[in-house]
Amino acid sequence: MIYQRACDIVTDEVFLELDGFLPDSQLFLKLEGMNPAGSVKLKSALGMVEDAERKGRLLPGGRIVESSSGSLGIALAVIAAARRYHFTCVTDPNISPQSLVLIRSLGAEVVQVTRRDHNGGFLGTRIAHIHGMLDADPALVWLNQYANPANAEAHARRTATSILKNIGEVDVLLVGAGTTGTLMGCTRHFRAFSPRTRIIAVDTTGSVTFGGPPAPRYIPGLGTSRRPELCRPDRVDDIVLVDEPDAVRMCRRLAREHGLPAGGSTGSVLAALEAIADQIPAGSRVVAVSPDMGDRYVQTIYDDMWVAETLGTDVLDGSRTHPVAV
Ligand SMILES: Cc1ncc(COP(=O)(O)O)c(C=O)c1O
Repeated sequence: MIYQRACDIVTDEVFLELDGFLPDSQLFLKLEGMNPAGSVKLKSALGMVEDAERKGRLLPGGRIVESSSGSLGIALAVIAAARRYHFTCVTDPNISPQSLVLIRSLGAEVVQVTRRDHNGGFLGTRIAHIHGMLDADPALVWLNQYANPANAEAHARRTATSILKNIGEVDVLLVGAGTTGTLMGCTRHFRAFSPRTRIIAVDTTGSVTFGGPPAPRYIPGLGTSRRPELCRPDRVDDIVLVDEPDAVRMCRRLAREHGLPAGGSTGSVLAALEAIADQIPAGSRVVAVSPDMGDRYVQTIYDDMWVAETLGTDVLDGSRTHPVAV
């Protein structure tokens, strides 16, 4: 397949059947990390940019601003470079050094706010900074991933459609929740075309999206400190919250036992599946969405020191990655 632009390489057809994960059922992992932006957020970003173009909000040479501390920032930087837009990513000190370098390498501007908001986080400061930029430059386009219906629409049109096309009958679908764009897009499409599928939302303990109390979280991807406007909890059948240590254990096990170094949210989704495995009838066809791969987590999830210091040595179990000196 020959593409004209890197941002058009949306790998939406890659599924890995994980043998032996569920003893009596089939599990298909939808791998979303194999595109130039390295995550499922390439589709969210394309959906929002193309929607803004269609509506005449984003004109050739236009300027985009968005608040992101990772995957969406990288995805928008990939698109902005290929489509000749100027992109400013408003982020904070929690962004990983790899994401920061990558976004800048793609030609985007990065603004890092440093003042904490009244909740002790940075999201409020990031949004206030964007409002200031919009006041100063009304032509600037803020995509606002937490509230933009085009985010969810992209996943109804692409992610969910691809799952039903490739897998056919789906008994259970597990989707992680960040902005809930992937989740809400999938629920919309499945309710229309496969209403019998049980849809399970997976979130991180400490996220407030589904009404739980806030608590510190260390792994990017899932979870929020303020409920996304897109989120409609009544559209999902079940919600499973996963503790970060369990997500990390799962990532490390997946790498060792299945040869798949996946990102943290994949670990959460599979840890959620393991927790509810006894509720899944034998012979089911289960799909889980894997939003990204593990290479951006080598200094966190796959680093023994980070895991031991941040989450505790028991999380390492038999999965130490540091070499033994001889
Ligand atoms: C690695 C990763 N996993 C999962 C998600 C959640 O996706 P969504 O925002 O569509 O809920 C994100 C969102 O940024 C992410 O970066």
